[in-house]
This record gives sequence, C-alpha cells and structure tokens, in this order.
Amino acid sequence: MPVLPIVRLGHPALRTPARPVEPGRIREPEIQQLIDDMVDTMRDARGVGLAAPQIGVGFQVFVYASEGHPERHPDIPLRVVINPMITPHARELVYDWEGCLSIPDLRGMVPRHLAVRIQGMDRDGRPLDYVANDFEARIVQHEYDHLNGIIFLDRMRDLRTLGYLEEWNEHMAGQEGWDADDTAVG
Ligand code: NI
Repeated sequence: MPVLPIVRLGHPALRTPARPVEPGRIREPEIQQLIDDMVDTMRDARGVGLAAPQIGVGFQVFVYASEGHPERHPDIPLRVVINPMITPHARELVYDWEGCLSIPDLRGMVPRHLAVRIQGMDRDGRPLDYVANDFEARIVQHEYDHLNGIIFLDRMRDLRTLGYLEEWNEHMAGQEGWDADDTAVG
C-alpha cells in the first residue's frame, strides 16, 4: 500500500475545512484505501496521528496510534475516526510540546484540554463515542484541528517556545527531561 506525500504548510488543503464522508460511502473501496494509505503514511513518517487534509484529501478522517514509548505514554492502539465531533470533557488545559508532520522539524508548547469526548464513526461506519485523556486527548485535538484548517501554531499562546527540533533537543527538551519521541507529532 502506498505511502503518500504529506503536504506542508502553505498547501491550501491545510487551511480548508474538510467535508464529511457520506456514511453510506465509508465501506467503499475508495475510502477504505484512503484509510489504509493514511495509516501507512503516518507510520512511515513516525507520527502518532495523521489527518486526511495532510495528504491533500478534504475528508473528515483522521487516524492515530502511539506505540513503543511505554516509559512516557501508555500504548494507544490504532484508531480511525470519521466525521468526528469533539467536545471538551475536562475544563483544565495542559501545556505540552507538539509538532506536526506538515510543519517538519518544529516543536512548540500548545495548550489542550486534558480530556475530550469523541463522537463519530469508525472505518466500518459504526458509531464511536468515547473519552480520550492525556496524550491521546492531545493527539485527537491536534488531528481534529486539521479537519478545520487549524494548525498547532494557531493554538500556541507563546511563540517564544517555538524551536527547531535540533536546537530544541539541545536547549529546551533536555531541561525538562523530554526527547523528541515523547512529543505529539501528527
Ligand atoms: Ni499536524
């Protein structure tokens, strides 16, 4: 299955709200192939999430998974989310580092809700309704933003925390015991 090119900041798809997938079309090969390609593309890029607009497709679809960093985050099994609606489940905002596959090599501090409720559909068209917490909640909010033409830079409260990965690793991450693999990059 093909790994697709990820579009970068400046591509209009990243600033265009995505449209819902007709529920009756979710099981069609075109959408199933899109989902498979998104999963492969996310894994190839070593991201923890990917939204369809990041491969230039204007559908409300995102995928995410986080595996292999148990020292920092519990594993998050692969999720496919279609036509989501996200509502805050905790009023509390938490700041943490994020990056974006469409804005390579930058990291910045982004406030997110500690928990969110996700309603939507899975890849079989079945309804989804669950609450995500902590790191998973951060990924979901990042990917959901992509479906609305919003990127993490728009959410930053202090652009002085923005840095290139190499410098960040050397000067910012180390101070707090973080490394690049711990950040939500999607
Ligand atoms: Ni992103």
